[in-house]
Parts: sequence; C-alpha cells; structure tokens
Amino acid sequence: MCAKSLIFTRKYSVATKTVSFFTTPIYYVNAKPHIGHLYSSLIADASQRWQKLKSHNQKIIFSTGTDEHGTKIQRAAKMHKTTLNGYCDAISREYRDLADNFSVEYSDFIRTSEVRHKSTVQAFWEKLASKGLIYKSTYQGYYCVSDETFLSESQLKEVEQDGRKLLVSTESGHPVEWSEEANYIFKLSSFREDLVYWLKQNERAVIPQKFHKILLDLINSGDALKDISVSRPSSRVHWGIPVPNDPDQTVYVWLDALVNYLTAAGYTHSSKEDFNKVWPPDLQVIGKDILKFHGVYWPAFLMAADLEPPRCILCHSHWTVDDEKMSKSKRNVVNPMEKGEVYTRDGLRYFLLREGVNHSDGNYNDTKVLRLLNAELADTLGNLLSRCCGKSLNPNQEFPRINFDKISRLDVTKQLIKHLENLPNVCAAHYDDYNFYKCADAIVATLHSANLFFESLKPWELKKSPETKEDLDAALHLAMECLRVCGILLQPLTPNISEALLDKLSVLRSERTFEDSRRFSWENREFSGRKLGAGSAVLFKRIVLAEEKIKKAQKG
Ligand code: ME8
Ligand code: MG
Repeated sequence: MCAKSLIFTRKYSVATKTVSFFTTPIYYVNAKPHIGHLYSSLIADASQRWQKLKSHNQKIIFSTGTDEHGTKIQRAAKMHKTTLNGYCDAISREYRDLADNFSVEYSDFIRTSEVRHKSTVQAFWEKLASKGLIYKSTYQGYYCVSDETFLSESQLKEVEQDGRKLLVSTESGHPVEWSEEANYIFKLSSFREDLVYWLKQNERAVIPQKFHKILLDLINSGDALKDISVSRPSSRVHWGIPVPNDPDQTVYVWLDALVNYLTAAGYTHSSKEDFNKVWPPDLQVIGKDILKFHGVYWPAFLMAADLEPPRCILCHSHWTVDDEKMSKSKRNVVNPMEKGEVYTRDGLRYFLLREGVNHSDGNYNDTKVLRLLNAELADTLGNLLSRCCGKSLNPNQEFPRINFDKISRLDVTKQLIKHLENLPNVCAAHYDDYNFYKCADAIVATLHSANLFFESLKPWELKKSPETKEDLDAALHLAMECLRVCGILLQPLTPNISEALLDKLSVLRSERTFEDSRRFSWENREFSGRKLGAGSAVLFKRIVLAEEKIKKAQKG
C-alpha cells in the first residue's frame, strides 16, 4: 500500500450515484467525420441502448460533441478562408448531423466553444491551482504542432525528407520543433502510485485487457509520468480558453477537451447533489490513439480535483481501409454519410458493430460490407420475415396462436426452442462485455436455425390442405417468435430495422425490453395471437446494383 495514494485514502461516495453516464470522445473540427468517428459513437450508443433495454427506468446521460480549440483548428479555419466561429459551427454541425442520422441517441451535444464549458474549465483549473498542483515555469522540449503535444526524446525518431534530416514523432510521424516557452505545469509526476493503484484495483478500469496492460506498462515506464505543461502562450494559441487571472496564457487543448465530460455532468452548472448523481462516468468510449490522454492525464486531473476517475474506459482499435491506414493524404477516408446512402444507415451501423472487434484493427472494404449485409440482413433476417408475412402462406396476416403440446414433441421444434431460450442470456453476456460482434453472431445463428426449421416443415405443402393448417400455424408461430426475440435483442445494434420488425409483428412498445425477450410465447399464457402490423415486411432490400458494379470492377 502506498501512503500517498489519494484513491486509497479517499472514500468516494457511491450511494449518491443514480444516473448512468456514457460518453464518446469529442471530435476535432479540423476535419469532417469519417467511419472511425461514427464507430466510437455507435459503440457508446449501442452500450447505452443495452443499458436501457436491461433497465428501462434507468436515467442515462449520454454525451458526445466537438473539440474546437487549439492551433489545429486555427490553421484549418485559415486554410478554408473562413472565420473561426463560422468554421467551427459548420463542421460541428456535420458531427451532430452524423449522430442524428445514425440514430446515436445522445442526450447532450457539447461544444468546447460554449460558455458553459469555458466556465467549467476555468473552475476546474482554479481547483487544481488551489491545491498547489499547478505551477509556472519555463518549458523546453520538442513540440509537435499537429499532435499538440511536447514529446520526450524517446518518442522521437530521425527521418530523411527531401534530402534533409528531420525529427518526427515515432507514434504519429508528424515533425517536431524545439520550443521554449513560459507555461503552467501540472504535477503529473505525483500521481504515479495513484494511477497504478486505480488500474490494479479494477481490472475493468480500462478494457479490453490488452489496453489495460499497455497503460500499466506506459505508467511504469517513467516517460509518461513527467510533469506536463497545461497552458500555451496566447500569442501562439489564441483560440482557446484563457487561464484564470492570466490572459497571456491559454489552457492546453487536452485539458480543455477532457473537461468536456465534467461540463456535460454539470460540474459547475448543477447543484453538488445533482452532480454527484451523475459522477463518475460509467463508460467512456475512446480510440486507441487517445489512450494516454484518457488513461493517464484524465484520471490524474480528476484525482487532483478530488473527483473519482471513470468506472470504465472502453478503448477500441482502428479501422483501416482496404488494409491501409485511413488518412487524408491517402485519399481513402470513408465518408459515413455517403455509405449510409448506399447501405442504409442501419446497414452501416450493423456492419461496423458486427465486424469491429475492440482489441484489434478492423478492415473496411465495400465488397465485404455488401456481402455481409446481403447475407445476414437480407437473406437471413429479412427473408424469414417476408416468408412469414407473405399472403400465400399467411392469408390471415396474423401471428397465430397455437397449441404447443403437440409441436413441442417434434425434434426440429425442440432444437429451435432450446436455441431460442438460450439466446437472451448469451446476448446479455456479450453485451455486458461490449462484444457486439458476438451478439450479432449469436442472433444470426439463431435466425439460420429458424430458416432451416421453417424450410424443413415444407410450409408450401402444409398450406395445401385444411388438415395441415395447424402445422402451418405452428411453423409460422415459431418462426415469428424467433423474429420477435431477435428483433428485441437487435435493438442496440439496428434500432430502426428492429422497430420495423417489431411493428410488423404488432409487438407493443411496452413489450420490447430485455425481460420481454425472455418471456416466450410458449410460457406466456396471455399470448392470444395477433394481426400483423400494416407496415412493409421488407426489412432490408438486397443491395444488387452496387454488387454488380463491384463484380464488374473486379473482372475488369
Ligand atoms: O482525438 N478507427 O479527436 P479526433 C476507429 N478531439 N476510430 C477512429 C479512427 C479510426 N481509424 N480514427 C479516429 C481527438 N477514430 C480529440 C479527442 S476527447 C476529450 C478529445 C475515433 O477527431 C476514435 O475514437 O481525432 C478516436 O479516439 C477519435 O475518433 C479521435 O477523434
Ligand atoms: Mg485524431
């Protein structure tokens, strides 16, 4: 045990926390949104939707937004020949539209240029200063303008460019320059034991485990725990929040940006009581590029201000495109709005959450998107619904009531029922671990069995005679029951497709919770059969045109 450990000696009050708090990173407005940004937001959205599905009375704050200060933004606005405010408004709007278009159900969209954020950052600064954790000094070192950060020598390498030797950041490849300036410094070095303790006492403080380990190694390596500069001369960085009582200095963008989570939680704008209902965040979704900022600086800042660090940081890996790093210079940046038009928005949601795994990089490739969506959303999910709802097999347009005693003796039926009865708990375990791909996989496997089951009963034969009407109804019923359960469980991944599906099956809005997915019709005596909804039975149209185009392109 470490005598100095703040976490160890401090008892955070947990009893007062009643609101769940989910966050995405706030995105830089120096560039337009791409699928990586959408992906982070989708992970956070699916997680909070899962929480709501489990406990629908749970109050949730879900914040996202844009990071608008610093030299990167100053340069971008200049390049676009627009005013800073106009530039930030326009790009911030694109991020908000992205969230709205892809059903990211945020409750707060925070912009760091807002007044409420400025006052939160200044209050937070004063708190750190009052505890003697910020001091003024001259800071010297290699500074990387693109990354907005000073780098130590071990983080640099020499490269040759146009015959000249150049020092660049090993991590980002961006050039650095020697720089010396008056700065305020935060005593990060006094938080090593606290950070180690925070990580060690909670395996899930940072997940997946791979990133927990990377972080622990980083903290133990020494380099990352030097005191850091938390302000910049306003002469160089004017687009930012002034340091309280020192207009010559601007608050460092990363301190400014991280505090957005406090702004969203109401650190200065709610009563202490209300703030304590929200703090700390339950889940903070980030990409691996910003792990150091969220896993070292952020918890240290919080502990310094007597605040509890986040309960869980979920760090995900990156998307590459056709196996290359996605970057402006490679001109391979994937625009989610354009792809949403081709694949539908729920289609793209599904692909990213179905294909992405947190611990290693995922590869985006159009052929892969198309094949996956056609196979799973069109041919497996969509096909089962349209089979069940077609006028020829289902002339009464109903979710029929049936006699279970008879059909539950059949082997094919027994198997499907068993499969379906397991599914909700299987999905719950995967959702709880944020393994969305495993959830989708389990759901699709169940739908496959349901399709096989349906086919094996030969419904087109059963419909021919009134004597086999009962069997036909049984086939329809079980397939629809399977669709109902899958529709409920798919809500965090594809909320709009799920809605269309559940509407078609006439499942009431109040019957779409996780508990409802475990109340099967064969146990539920109230189930009385239903008329189908009026909407379309086509959930996902096969994407044919694009497929043909791709085939042609591949042949050519
Ligand atoms: O870093 N694959 O903003 P940013 C997956 N403003 N996700 C990706 C990705 C990729 N190829 N590229 C980016 C910033 N992301 C800061 C954050 S938070 C207080 C401040 C996602 O616009 C991923 O979540 O560069 C990454 O962490 C984030 O976008 C970075 O967005
Ligand atoms: Mg970035």
